[in-house]
Amino acid sequence: MSNLILAKRQLAPEVTLLEVEAPRIQRRWKPGMFIIIRPNSNSERIPLTIVDSSAARQSITMVIQAIGKTTKEAVALEPGESLCDLVGPLGEAATMTTGQKVVCMAGGVGVAELLPVAKAFREAGNHVTALCGARSDNYRILNDELIAAVDELKWATDDGSFGFKGNVVQMLLSLAGPGTFAEGHVIGPIPMMKAAAEATRDWGMKLHASLNPVMIDGTGMCGGCRVTVGQQVKFACVDGPEFDAHLVDFDELTRRNRAYREMEQQVQAHQCRIGLDVL
Ligand code: FAD
Ligand code: FES
Ligand code: MG
Repeated sequence: MSNLILAKRQLAPEVTLLEVEAPRIQRRWKPGMFIIIRPNSNSERIPLTIVDSSAARQSITMVIQAIGKTTKEAVALEPGESLCDLVGPLGEAATMTTGQKVVCMAGGVGVAELLPVAKAFREAGNHVTALCGARSDNYRILNDELIAAVDELKWATDDGSFGFKGNVVQMLLSLAGPGTFAEGHVIGPIPMMKAAAEATRDWGMKLHASLNPVMIDGTGMCGGCRVTVGQQVKFACVDGPEFDAHLVDFDELTRRNRAYREMEQQVQAHQCRIGLDVL
């Protein structure tokens, strides 16, 4: 059966790893790309990053933070069940460089997206420092996988229960300045990505941000994921999701991501009408 769930693992409170059979995506994906899934036939579509793959098992791995209706439906599925839809790989691969000192920064479930990108930077011959953030020690995810993938890994926790006390950008400022890194990648909550962009604006380094706007079709048709980058209109699903962090209009992204909050909170009443089986 297609889109079969092969394995499931709880990584932290509300954060679940799912391994799904997806032979064609497994062969074609690159770090930074994503998929769009519908957990079941009445679900809305949601984008999720491809975190890993296995040629032997013909599978891909995703890591899901259960924050709303559809992510909760996804993590309720068990091995042996199937996702209703799985489309991908979507988006452009993360920008790579070679022979540089690179910093990879992530907060929350963004750590999962960071893992394949940080790994790819190192495989391309860079020295990679990963700065990762979590609410507290028990929310840290993929620690062993990151240790194996990068040269240096540092954690920040909001409550100081592990590593640096504070957020990832505060940790960056505590250990780096102009000239420390030539290039960087950042993913996480919008305020964190915006703060990382502001902190490094005058450091003479490139910073790539992987953006998380609301997506629907993932093919550039619906306009849902419109972002402004350097005064230009872009669609994150086809032009991104990664863009030059120093040029992104993060305030607009914040406003657009809040646009459907009222409907998102009506978890019981709202039924998505885009699902093919609903109308
Ligand atoms: P809701 O209660 O409906 O929404 C909660 C918040 O999630 C909203 O306020 C909005 O900011 C965001 N959101 C809602 N619907 C969408 C949507 N259709 N598209 C994008 N954002 C939405 N999350 C993970 O846990 N793991 C990942 O690997 C991951 N990768 C992502 C990759 C990309 C390219 C993007 C754009 C987002 C990614 N996300 C990831 C975020 C994930 O898609 C949202 O958390 C999810 O869609 C929320 O849906 P919900 O119904 O559970 O929550
Ligand atoms: Fe529709 Fe990008 S999700 S244009
Ligand atoms: Mg939703």
